[in-house]
Amino acid sequence: MIRSLRGRLFIGLTAIIILTGAIGGMFAFNWAFDEAIEMQDSILTQIASLAQNSGFSGGQPLPGVEEDAEVWIMELGKAPHGSADDRQLWSHQDGLHVAARAGQPIRVLVRTRADGSRFAVAQPTAVRDETARDMALRTLVPIAALIPCLMLVTALLIAQSLRPMVRLASDLDARRADDMSPLPLKGMPSELHPFIASINGLIARMRLMMDQQRRFIADATHELRTPIAALSLQAENLDPVDLPAAARDRLAALKQGMQRTKHLLEQLLALARQEAHPLGRGEMPQVSLDHVAKEVVADLLPQALNRNIDLGFELVEPLAVPSEPVMLAAMIRNLLDNALRYTPEGGNVDIGVYRQDGAAILQIEDSGPGIESSDMDRIFEPFFRGAREEAEGTGLGMSIVKRVVDELGGSIALENIMGVGRSGLRVIVRLPIAADPDLSANKPTAI
Ligand SMILES: Nc1ncnc2c1ncn2[C@@H]1O[C@H](COP(=O)(O)OP(=O)(O)OP(=O)(O)O)[C@@H](O)[C@H]1O
Ligand SMILES: [Mg+2]
Repeated sequence: MIRSLRGRLFIGLTAIIILTGAIGGMFAFNWAFDEAIEMQDSILTQIASLAQNSGFSGGQPLPGVEEDAEVWIMELGKAPHGSADDRQLWSHQDGLHVAARAGQPIRVLVRTRADGSRFAVAQPTAVRDETARDMALRTLVPIAALIPCLMLVTALLIAQSLRPMVRLASDLDARRADDMSPLPLKGMPSELHPFIASINGLIARMRLMMDQQRRFIADATHELRTPIAALSLQAENLDPVDLPAAARDRLAALKQGMQRTKHLLEQLLALARQEAHPLGRGEMPQVSLDHVAKEVVADLLPQALNRNIDLGFELVEPLAVPSEPVMLAAMIRNLLDNALRYTPEGGNVDIGVYRQDGAAILQIEDSGPGIESSDMDRIFEPFFRGAREEAEGTGLGMSIVKRVVDELGGSIALENIMGVGRSGLRVIVRLPIAADPDLSANKPTAI
Protein backbone atom coordinates (compact mmCIF):
# COMPACT_ATOMS: atom_id res chain seq x y z
CA MET A 1 0.00 0.00 0.00
CA ILE A 2 1.56 3.24 -1.13
CA ARG A 3 1.09 5.98 1.43
CA SER A 4 2.25 8.95 -0.53
CA LEU A 5 -0.33 10.74 -2.60
CA ARG A 6 2.32 11.55 -5.16
CA GLY A 7 3.29 7.86 -5.46
CA ARG A 8 -0.31 6.75 -5.75
CA LEU A 9 -1.16 9.32 -8.42
CA PHE A 10 1.99 8.52 -10.35
CA ILE A 11 1.50 4.76 -10.31
CA GLY A 12 -2.22 5.06 -11.11
CA LEU A 13 -1.71 7.46 -14.01
CA THR A 14 1.30 5.52 -15.32
CA ALA A 15 -0.74 2.31 -15.32
CA ILE A 16 -3.47 4.07 -17.28
CA ILE A 17 -0.94 5.47 -19.76
CA ILE A 18 0.72 2.08 -20.30
CA LEU A 19 -2.61 0.27 -20.61
CA THR A 20 -3.95 2.84 -23.08
CA GLY A 21 -0.67 2.66 -24.99
CA ALA A 22 -0.77 -1.15 -25.11
CA ILE A 23 -4.41 -1.35 -26.28
CA GLY A 24 -3.93 1.50 -28.77
CA GLY A 25 -0.70 -0.10 -29.98
CA MET A 26 -2.43 -3.46 -30.49
CA PHE A 27 -5.16 -1.92 -32.62
CA ALA A 28 -2.70 0.24 -34.57
CA PHE A 29 -0.53 -2.81 -35.23
CA ASN A 30 -3.43 -4.90 -36.53
CA TRP A 31 -4.73 -2.13 -38.77
CA ALA A 32 -1.32 -1.40 -40.16
CA PHE A 33 -0.68 -5.12 -40.74
CA ASP A 34 -3.95 -5.58 -42.65
CA GLU A 35 -3.28 -2.42 -44.65
CA ALA A 36 0.19 -3.66 -45.59
CA ILE A 37 -1.21 -7.03 -46.75
CA GLU A 38 -3.81 -5.25 -48.86
CA MET A 39 -1.14 -3.03 -50.31
CA GLN A 40 0.93 -6.05 -51.28
CA ASP A 41 -2.13 -7.62 -52.94
CA SER A 42 -2.60 -4.48 -54.97
CA ILE A 43 1.08 -4.62 -55.98
CA LEU A 44 0.54 -8.20 -57.16
CA THR A 45 -2.47 -6.99 -59.16
CA GLN A 46 -0.43 -4.19 -60.73
CA ILE A 47 2.38 -6.58 -61.65
CA ALA A 48 -0.12 -8.99 -63.14
CA SER A 49 -1.70 -6.22 -65.25
CA LEU A 50 1.72 -5.10 -66.36
CA ALA A 51 2.72 -8.65 -67.30
CA GLN A 52 -0.53 -9.22 -69.16
CA ASN A 53 -0.34 -6.01 -71.19
CA SER A 54 3.32 -6.07 -71.97
CA GLY A 55 3.48 -9.72 -72.88
CA PHE A 56 5.96 -10.23 -70.07
CA SER A 57 6.35 -13.91 -69.23
CA GLY A 58 7.85 -15.96 -66.42
CA GLY A 59 11.48 -16.88 -66.13
CA GLN A 60 12.67 -13.25 -66.39
CA PRO A 61 13.50 -10.91 -63.51
CA LEU A 62 10.66 -8.55 -62.87
CA PRO A 63 11.71 -4.96 -63.65
CA GLY A 64 11.29 -2.52 -60.73
CA VAL A 65 10.53 -5.23 -58.18
CA GLU A 66 13.07 -5.83 -55.44
CA GLU A 67 14.55 -9.26 -55.23
CA ASP A 68 13.85 -9.39 -51.50
CA ALA A 69 10.14 -9.24 -52.27
CA GLU A 70 10.48 -12.67 -53.91
CA VAL A 71 7.72 -11.97 -56.45
CA TRP A 72 7.81 -14.14 -59.50
CA ILE A 73 5.64 -15.07 -62.46
CA MET A 74 4.71 -18.65 -63.18
CA GLU A 75 3.58 -19.70 -66.62
CA LEU A 76 0.76 -22.20 -66.23
CA GLY A 77 0.19 -22.86 -69.96
CA LYS A 78 -3.07 -23.43 -71.75
CA ALA A 79 -3.91 -26.68 -69.99
CA PRO A 80 -2.99 -28.16 -66.59
CA HIS A 81 0.43 -29.78 -66.69
CA GLY A 82 3.62 -30.00 -64.68
CA SER A 83 3.83 -30.71 -60.99
CA ALA A 84 0.89 -31.27 -58.67
CA ASP A 85 1.38 -27.71 -57.34
CA ASP A 86 1.14 -26.33 -60.91
CA ARG A 87 -1.95 -28.32 -61.68
CA GLN A 88 -3.49 -27.22 -58.40
CA LEU A 89 -2.78 -23.61 -59.38
CA TRP A 90 -4.35 -24.12 -62.80
CA SER A 91 -7.55 -25.29 -61.10
CA HIS A 92 -7.95 -21.86 -59.45
CA GLN A 93 -10.11 -19.29 -61.12
CA ASP A 94 -8.62 -15.93 -62.08
CA GLY A 95 -8.01 -13.82 -59.01
CA LEU A 96 -6.18 -13.84 -55.67
CA HIS A 97 -5.71 -17.12 -53.81
CA VAL A 98 -3.61 -18.73 -51.13
CA ALA A 99 -1.80 -21.76 -52.54
CA ALA A 100 1.18 -23.92 -51.69
CA ARG A 101 4.53 -24.34 -53.36
CA ALA A 102 6.94 -26.98 -52.14
CA GLY A 103 4.99 -27.19 -48.92
CA GLN A 104 5.30 -23.38 -48.30
CA PRO A 105 2.17 -21.19 -48.39
CA ILE A 106 2.19 -18.59 -51.15
CA ARG A 107 -0.10 -15.83 -52.29
CA VAL A 108 -0.96 -16.02 -55.96
CA LEU A 109 -2.85 -13.97 -58.49
CA VAL A 110 -4.00 -16.11 -61.43
CA ARG A 111 -4.75 -14.48 -64.77
CA THR A 112 -5.74 -15.78 -68.23
CA ARG A 113 -4.34 -14.06 -71.31
CA ALA A 114 -6.41 -13.42 -74.43
CA ASP A 115 -4.83 -16.43 -76.16
CA GLY A 116 -6.06 -18.73 -73.35
CA SER A 117 -2.64 -19.20 -71.70
CA ARG A 118 -2.62 -18.64 -67.99
CA PHE A 119 -0.03 -17.31 -65.59
CA ALA A 120 0.22 -16.58 -61.88
CA VAL A 121 2.04 -13.84 -59.98
CA ALA A 122 3.21 -15.41 -56.73
CA GLN A 123 4.87 -14.35 -53.51
CA PRO A 124 5.68 -16.46 -50.39
CA THR A 125 3.27 -15.66 -47.54
CA ALA A 126 6.17 -15.63 -45.07
CA VAL A 127 7.88 -12.77 -46.97
CA ARG A 128 4.63 -10.83 -47.20
CA ASP A 129 3.93 -11.29 -43.50
CA GLU A 130 7.40 -10.20 -42.55
CA THR A 131 7.15 -7.04 -44.67
CA ALA A 132 3.71 -6.31 -43.24
CA ARG A 133 4.96 -6.90 -39.69
CA ASP A 134 7.90 -4.55 -40.25
CA MET A 135 5.60 -1.83 -41.50
CA ALA A 136 3.10 -2.38 -38.70
CA LEU A 137 5.85 -2.29 -36.09
CA ARG A 138 6.94 1.08 -37.37
CA THR A 139 3.54 2.49 -36.42
CA LEU A 140 4.27 1.51 -32.80
CA VAL A 141 7.40 3.66 -32.55
CA PRO A 142 5.63 6.98 -31.88
CA ILE A 143 3.38 5.33 -29.29
CA ALA A 144 6.36 3.74 -27.55
CA ALA A 145 8.21 7.06 -27.57
CA LEU A 146 5.17 8.89 -26.26
CA ILE A 147 4.76 6.70 -23.16
CA PRO A 148 7.96 7.79 -21.33
CA CYS A 149 7.26 11.40 -22.35
CA LEU A 150 3.77 11.18 -20.90
CA MET A 151 5.15 9.59 -17.72
CA LEU A 152 7.62 12.45 -17.35
CA VAL A 153 4.94 15.06 -17.92
CA THR A 154 2.69 13.27 -15.40
CA ALA A 155 5.46 13.23 -12.78
CA LEU A 156 6.14 16.95 -13.34
CA LEU A 157 2.46 17.80 -13.24
CA ILE A 158 1.95 15.88 -9.99
CA ALA A 159 4.99 17.53 -8.39
CA GLN A 160 3.73 20.93 -9.54
CA SER A 161 0.20 20.30 -8.25
CA LEU A 162 1.41 19.08 -4.89
CA ARG A 163 3.88 21.93 -4.43
CA PRO A 164 1.41 24.14 -2.48
CA MET A 165 0.99 21.29 0.02
CA VAL A 166 4.74 20.94 0.43
CA ARG A 167 5.02 24.71 0.83
CA LEU A 168 2.25 24.71 3.40
CA ALA A 169 4.04 22.02 5.39
CA SER A 170 7.38 23.81 5.32
CA ASP A 171 5.68 27.11 6.28
CA LEU A 172 4.12 25.36 9.26
CA ASP A 173 7.46 23.77 10.19
CA ALA A 174 9.28 27.07 10.00
CA ARG A 175 6.76 28.80 12.23
CA ARG A 176 7.73 30.06 15.64
CA ALA A 177 5.95 28.12 18.34
CA ASP A 178 4.15 31.26 19.50
CA ASP A 179 3.15 32.43 16.04
CA MET A 180 -0.61 32.20 16.15
CA SER A 181 -1.39 34.06 12.95
CA PRO A 182 -3.75 32.21 10.56
CA LEU A 183 -2.39 30.52 7.45
CA PRO A 184 -3.07 32.47 4.26
CA LEU A 185 -5.63 31.03 1.80
CA LYS A 186 -4.36 33.18 -1.03
CA GLY A 187 -2.46 31.33 -3.73
CA MET A 188 -3.54 27.93 -2.40
CA PRO A 189 -5.53 25.49 -4.58
CA SER A 190 -9.20 25.40 -3.66
CA GLU A 191 -8.95 21.71 -2.62
CA LEU A 192 -6.69 22.80 0.24
CA HIS A 193 -9.02 25.54 1.47
CA PRO A 194 -11.10 23.35 3.81
CA PHE A 195 -7.90 21.86 5.19
CA ILE A 196 -6.33 25.29 5.78
CA ALA A 197 -9.58 26.56 7.27
CA SER A 198 -9.50 23.64 9.74
CA ILE A 199 -5.89 24.38 10.69
CA ASN A 200 -6.77 28.04 11.12
CA GLY A 201 -9.68 27.04 13.34
CA LEU A 202 -7.30 24.96 15.42
CA ILE A 203 -4.80 27.84 15.63
CA ALA A 204 -7.59 30.18 16.75
CA ARG A 205 -8.67 27.71 19.45
CA MET A 206 -5.07 27.28 20.58
CA ARG A 207 -4.60 31.05 20.71
CA LEU A 208 -7.72 31.38 22.83
CA MET A 209 -6.54 28.61 25.13
CA MET A 210 -3.06 30.12 25.44
CA ASP A 211 -4.53 33.55 26.12
CA GLN A 212 -6.68 32.04 28.85
CA GLN A 213 -3.69 30.28 30.33
CA ARG A 214 -1.57 33.42 30.23
CA ARG A 215 -4.32 35.39 31.86
CA PHE A 216 -4.68 32.70 34.48
CA ILE A 217 -0.94 32.75 35.25
CA ALA A 218 -0.93 36.55 35.34
CA ASP A 219 -3.98 36.63 37.63
CA ALA A 220 -2.78 33.80 39.88
CA THR A 221 0.67 35.36 40.22
CA HIS A 222 -0.84 38.72 40.91
CA GLU A 223 -3.18 37.27 43.53
CA LEU A 224 -0.32 35.43 45.21
CA ARG A 225 1.71 38.59 45.66
CA THR A 226 -0.57 40.00 48.36
CA PRO A 227 -0.50 36.97 50.73
CA ILE A 228 3.26 36.61 50.23
CA ALA A 229 3.74 40.30 51.04
CA ALA A 230 1.55 39.83 54.13
CA LEU A 231 3.59 36.80 55.21
CA SER A 232 6.84 38.75 54.73
CA LEU A 233 5.43 41.52 56.87
CA GLN A 234 4.45 39.05 59.58
CA ALA A 235 7.96 37.59 59.51
CA GLU A 236 9.46 41.07 59.77
CA ASN A 237 7.17 41.81 62.69
CA LEU A 238 8.99 39.04 64.50
CA ASP A 239 12.29 40.97 64.27
CA PRO A 240 11.88 42.99 67.47
CA VAL A 241 10.57 39.98 69.37
CA ASP A 242 13.02 38.36 71.71
CA LEU A 243 13.55 34.92 70.23
CA PRO A 244 15.89 32.09 71.12
CA ALA A 245 18.89 31.77 68.79
CA ALA A 246 17.57 28.58 67.13
CA ALA A 247 14.24 30.25 66.37
CA ARG A 248 16.02 33.28 64.94
CA ASP A 249 17.97 30.99 62.56
CA ARG A 250 14.74 29.40 61.40
CA LEU A 251 13.19 32.84 60.97
CA ALA A 252 16.12 33.92 58.79
CA ALA A 253 15.65 30.80 56.61
CA LEU A 254 11.93 31.50 56.44
CA LYS A 255 12.52 35.10 55.33
CA GLN A 256 14.98 33.96 52.72
CA GLY A 257 12.51 31.42 51.39
CA MET A 258 9.86 34.09 51.24
CA GLN A 259 12.25 36.41 49.44
CA ARG A 260 12.88 33.69 46.86
CA THR A 261 9.17 33.11 46.41
CA LYS A 262 8.63 36.85 45.99
CA HIS A 263 11.33 36.95 43.34
CA LEU A 264 9.84 33.96 41.53
CA LEU A 265 6.43 35.64 41.55
CA GLU A 266 7.91 38.89 40.24
CA GLN A 267 9.65 37.04 37.42
CA LEU A 268 6.55 35.00 36.57
CA LEU A 269 4.48 38.15 36.58
CA ALA A 270 6.96 39.90 34.28
CA LEU A 271 6.81 36.93 31.92
CA ALA A 272 3.02 36.71 32.01
CA ARG A 273 2.69 40.47 31.50
CA GLN A 274 5.04 40.22 28.61
CA GLU A 275 3.08 37.41 26.99
CA ALA A 276 -0.30 39.00 27.54
CA HIS A 277 0.99 42.19 26.02
CA PRO A 278 -1.96 43.86 24.31
CA LEU A 279 -0.22 46.44 22.12
CA GLY A 280 1.20 45.80 18.68
CA ARG A 281 4.68 47.10 17.89
CA GLY A 282 3.32 50.00 15.87
CA GLU A 283 1.11 51.22 18.70
CA MET A 284 3.78 51.35 21.40
CA PRO A 285 4.76 54.70 22.89
CA GLN A 286 8.24 56.13 22.49
CA VAL A 287 10.27 55.40 25.58
CA SER A 288 13.60 56.90 26.46
CA LEU A 289 16.03 54.00 26.67
CA ASP A 290 18.74 55.96 28.48
CA HIS A 291 16.25 57.24 31.00
CA VAL A 292 14.85 53.82 31.84
CA ALA A 293 18.38 52.39 32.05
CA LYS A 294 19.38 55.12 34.52
CA GLU A 295 16.36 54.44 36.70
CA VAL A 296 17.06 50.71 36.79
CA VAL A 297 20.72 51.40 37.65
CA ALA A 298 19.63 53.70 40.47
CA ASP A 299 17.40 50.90 41.78
CA LEU A 300 20.19 48.33 41.67
CA LEU A 301 22.93 50.57 43.03
CA PRO A 302 22.47 49.35 46.64
CA GLN A 303 22.91 45.75 45.43
CA ALA A 304 26.10 46.76 43.61
CA LEU A 305 27.47 48.67 46.61
CA ASN A 306 26.67 45.73 48.80
CA ARG A 307 28.94 43.55 46.71
CA ASN A 308 31.49 46.26 46.10
CA ILE A 309 30.86 46.18 42.35
CA ASP A 310 31.57 49.23 40.24
CA LEU A 311 28.29 49.72 38.38
CA GLY A 312 28.19 52.62 35.96
CA PHE A 313 27.70 54.01 32.47
CA GLU A 314 30.52 54.08 29.99
CA LEU A 315 28.56 55.89 27.33
CA VAL A 316 25.01 57.26 27.31
CA GLU A 317 23.27 58.87 24.36
CA PRO A 318 19.69 60.04 24.49
CA LEU A 319 17.68 57.49 22.52
CA ALA A 320 14.01 56.66 22.20
CA VAL A 321 12.64 53.27 21.26
CA PRO A 322 9.03 52.25 20.65
CA SER A 323 8.30 50.18 23.71
CA GLU A 324 6.53 50.10 27.02
CA PRO A 325 8.41 51.43 30.04
CA VAL A 326 7.56 48.38 32.15
CA MET A 327 8.73 45.96 29.47
CA LEU A 328 11.93 47.83 28.82
CA ALA A 329 12.68 48.15 32.54
CA ALA A 330 12.06 44.41 33.11
CA MET A 331 14.55 43.59 30.37
CA ILE A 332 17.29 45.93 31.62
CA ARG A 333 16.70 44.92 35.24
CA ASN A 334 17.13 41.24 34.44
CA LEU A 335 20.30 41.80 32.42
CA LEU A 336 21.84 44.02 35.10
CA ASP A 337 20.69 41.71 37.87
CA ASN A 338 22.51 38.83 36.16
CA ALA A 339 25.62 40.93 35.62
CA LEU A 340 25.66 41.92 39.32
CA ARG A 341 24.73 38.48 40.62
CA TYR A 342 27.25 36.46 38.65
CA THR A 343 30.14 38.93 38.93
CA PRO A 344 32.36 38.25 41.94
CA GLU A 345 32.74 40.91 44.61
CA GLY A 346 34.86 43.88 43.63
CA GLY A 347 34.11 43.44 39.91
CA ASN A 348 32.82 45.87 37.28
CA VAL A 349 29.59 46.19 35.36
CA ASP A 350 29.68 48.72 32.53
CA ILE A 351 26.65 49.92 30.64
CA GLY A 352 26.50 51.61 27.27
CA VAL A 353 23.47 53.14 25.60
CA TYR A 354 24.24 54.42 22.12
CA ARG A 355 23.18 54.51 18.52
CA GLN A 356 24.81 52.34 15.88
CA ASP A 357 23.81 51.85 12.23
CA GLY A 358 20.39 53.33 12.84
CA ALA A 359 19.62 51.06 15.80
CA ALA A 360 19.57 51.66 19.53
CA ILE A 361 22.19 49.61 21.38
CA LEU A 362 22.17 48.61 25.00
CA GLN A 363 25.46 47.02 25.95
CA ILE A 364 26.23 45.46 29.30
CA GLU A 365 29.66 44.12 30.16
CA ASP A 366 30.51 42.38 33.41
CA SER A 367 33.66 40.88 34.83
CA GLY A 368 32.09 37.60 35.87
CA PRO A 369 32.85 34.10 34.62
CA GLY A 370 30.78 34.39 31.43
CA ILE A 371 28.52 31.61 30.14
CA GLU A 372 29.78 28.18 29.12
CA SER A 373 29.57 27.90 25.36
CA SER A 374 27.61 24.63 25.73
CA ASP A 375 24.93 26.58 27.66
CA MET A 376 24.65 29.44 25.18
CA ASP A 377 22.03 27.70 23.03
CA ARG A 378 19.69 27.07 25.92
CA ILE A 379 20.22 30.26 27.91
CA PHE A 380 16.90 31.78 26.77
CA GLU A 381 14.84 28.74 27.75
CA PRO A 382 12.59 29.28 30.75
CA PHE A 383 13.96 27.75 33.99
CA PHE A 384 17.34 26.99 32.43
CA ARG A 385 20.08 27.96 34.86
CA GLY A 386 23.16 26.55 33.19
CA ALA A 387 26.28 25.90 35.23
CA ARG A 388 25.22 28.06 38.17
CA GLU A 389 22.53 25.82 39.57
CA GLU A 390 23.75 26.42 43.10
CA ALA A 391 23.29 30.23 43.14
CA GLU A 392 19.88 31.78 43.76
CA GLY A 393 17.60 32.39 40.82
CA THR A 394 14.62 31.09 38.93
CA GLY A 395 16.09 30.73 35.46
CA LEU A 396 13.35 32.97 34.03
CA GLY A 397 15.39 36.18 33.65
CA MET A 398 16.87 35.55 30.24
CA SER A 399 13.62 34.22 28.78
CA ILE A 400 11.92 37.45 29.89
CA VAL A 401 14.73 39.41 28.22
CA LYS A 402 14.44 37.41 25.02
CA ARG A 403 10.70 37.82 24.80
CA VAL A 404 10.90 41.58 25.33
CA VAL A 405 13.60 41.86 22.66
CA ASP A 406 11.52 39.77 20.23
CA GLU A 407 8.41 41.77 21.01
CA LEU A 408 10.25 45.01 20.26
CA GLY A 409 11.56 43.60 16.99
CA GLY A 410 15.16 43.67 18.17
CA SER A 411 17.94 41.15 18.60
CA ILE A 412 20.25 40.07 21.39
CA ALA A 413 23.79 38.73 21.22
CA LEU A 414 25.83 37.25 24.06
CA GLU A 415 29.56 36.85 23.91
CA ASN A 416 32.14 35.87 26.44
CA ILE A 417 34.90 38.40 26.93
CA MET A 418 38.20 36.61 26.76
CA GLY A 419 41.14 38.96 27.23
CA VAL A 420 44.44 38.61 29.05
CA GLY A 421 43.60 38.33 32.74
CA ARG A 422 40.01 39.30 31.96
CA SER A 423 36.75 37.44 31.66
CA GLY A 424 33.10 38.33 31.64
CA LEU A 425 29.98 38.46 29.57
CA ARG A 426 29.07 41.08 26.99
CA VAL A 427 25.41 41.41 26.18
CA ILE A 428 24.42 43.51 23.19
CA VAL A 429 20.76 44.31 22.71
CA ARG A 430 19.88 45.97 19.42
CA LEU A 431 16.47 47.66 19.22
CA PRO A 432 14.73 49.51 16.39
CA ILE A 433 15.02 53.19 17.02
CA ALA A 434 12.04 55.56 17.27
CA ALA A 435 11.26 57.52 14.13
CA ASP A 436 11.89 60.82 15.91
CA PRO A 437 14.85 60.55 18.28
CA ASP A 438 14.07 63.98 19.75
CA LEU A 439 11.27 62.27 21.61
CA SER A 440 13.93 60.94 23.89
CA ALA A 441 13.83 64.30 25.67
CA ASN A 442 14.30 63.31 29.25
CA LYS A 443 10.75 63.24 30.39
CA PRO A 444 10.29 61.14 33.51
CA THR A 445 9.40 57.55 32.75
CA ALA A 446 7.27 55.50 35.09
CA ILE A 447 8.73 52.09 35.76
N1 LIG B 1 26.11 37.85 33.26
C1 LIG B 1 26.19 36.52 33.44
N2 LIG B 1 27.34 35.91 33.76
C2 LIG B 1 27.41 34.60 33.95
N3 LIG B 1 26.37 33.76 33.82
C3 LIG B 1 25.18 34.29 33.51
C4 LIG B 1 25.02 35.69 33.30
N4 LIG B 1 23.73 35.91 32.99
C5 LIG B 1 23.11 34.73 33.01
N5 LIG B 1 23.96 33.75 33.33
C6 LIG B 1 23.66 32.31 33.41
O1 LIG B 1 22.44 32.10 32.76
C7 LIG B 1 21.49 31.47 33.63
C8 LIG B 1 20.11 31.94 33.28
O2 LIG B 1 19.96 33.29 33.60
P1 LIG B 1 18.56 33.82 33.97
O3 LIG B 1 18.63 35.28 34.23
O4 LIG B 1 17.61 33.35 32.94
O5 LIG B 1 18.19 33.03 35.29
P2 LIG B 1 18.69 33.29 36.73
O6 LIG B 1 19.52 34.51 36.80
O7 LIG B 1 19.30 32.02 37.18
O8 LIG B 1 17.33 33.48 37.49
P3 LIG B 1 16.46 34.82 37.60
O9 LIG B 1 17.10 35.84 36.73
O10 LIG B 1 15.11 34.45 37.12
O11 LIG B 1 16.49 35.15 39.02
C9 LIG B 1 21.94 31.84 34.99
O12 LIG B 1 21.52 30.86 35.92
C10 LIG B 1 23.44 31.85 34.83
O13 LIG B 1 23.96 30.54 34.96
MG1 LIG C 1 18.77 36.30 36.03
